[in-house]
Amino acid sequence: MESELIVFSGNANRNVAEKICKWLDVPLGKAICSQFSDGETRVELQTNVRGRDVFIIQPLSAPANHHIMEAVIMADACARSSAKRITLVAPYFGYARQERKSAARTPITAKLVADLIEASGFNRVLTMELHNGAIQGFFKIPVDHLYAKPIFGKHFSSTPDDNVIVVSPDAGGTERARAMAKHFNCGLAIIDKRRDQPNESAVMHIIGNVEGKNVIMIDDIIDTAGSITKAAVALKESGALSVTAAISHPVLSGPAIERLNDSCLNELVVTDSIQLTSEAKKCDKIKQLSIAELFGKAIRRIHGNDSISALFV
Ligand code: R5P
Repeated sequence: MESELIVFSGNANRNVAEKICKWLDVPLGKAICSQFSDGETRVELQTNVRGRDVFIIQPLSAPANHHIMEAVIMADACARSSAKRITLVAPYFGYARQERKSAARTPITAKLVADLIEASGFNRVLTMELHNGAIQGFFKIPVDHLYAKPIFGKHFSSTPDDNVIVVSPDAGGTERARAMAKHFNCGLAIIDKRRDQPNESAVMHIIGNVEGKNVIMIDDIIDTAGSITKAAVALKESGALSVTAAISHPVLSGPAIERLNDSCLNELVVTDSIQLTSEAKKCDKIKQLSIAELFGKAIRRIHGNDSISALFV
């Protein structure tokens, strides 16, 4: 059974794919995944996949349109080459923030992307910290949904003391933050965030008492860093001693790095679900933790038809 496992990577985050392969102690499958002269994606598997259990590692991160096409074209190549099972390993699931009609005449892109993934031949999906867990229901194929809690929990295990409080930067993230507060056995506060425009945020007020506390803010995505840096100001103004953010997916687009550098945030801890840009790598406030062990364990268990619920610690 073990010999049937094969892992391929698209171009979204080859570093993390290599780390996962290292943890699994398997070589990364050989494949061409490049572009034709006109920009169309060119894929050619250079390893036999007939009857094999294929895992394609590809976060659906920016440029999301391109990376989604790479993933589905790789799946098509595997399906047409008689792979036994094809799993999309997408540590970051892009387009997830449009998971419902938030206004008239708008799309539901998370469902559209789920349909594309299924239509291309994928048989299952392994992902982490979906913006909304209900996106699992957009698929008819099995979705294994991991949490970053074991990674952040281990990182902060030496930190928590009586002075720590976990904060959700918006009401939608309360469940995620509550799970972390329970893990640390500490208090929880919530920020009432109102957004007038996409990618713009305004902190309204804090529900809970953060005075004299060291804050750990928990969220799924940091994009333009508007939410987190404004939340940090509000928390400091409300008497927080320090503000650290632990955020699963470092999208970090547009003015994010400038905002982080200028912010009162002490530290931003993220995972490597998305590869950092060279600008982000130079930002002293960012610390990146690896998902390789968590995903390596999940792939090993899926391949062996073992339960992965033990990973939800
Ligand atoms: C939205 O609800 C997400 O959980 C994040 O809070 C949001 O995507 C962050 O965006 P930004 O960094 O652009 O404020």
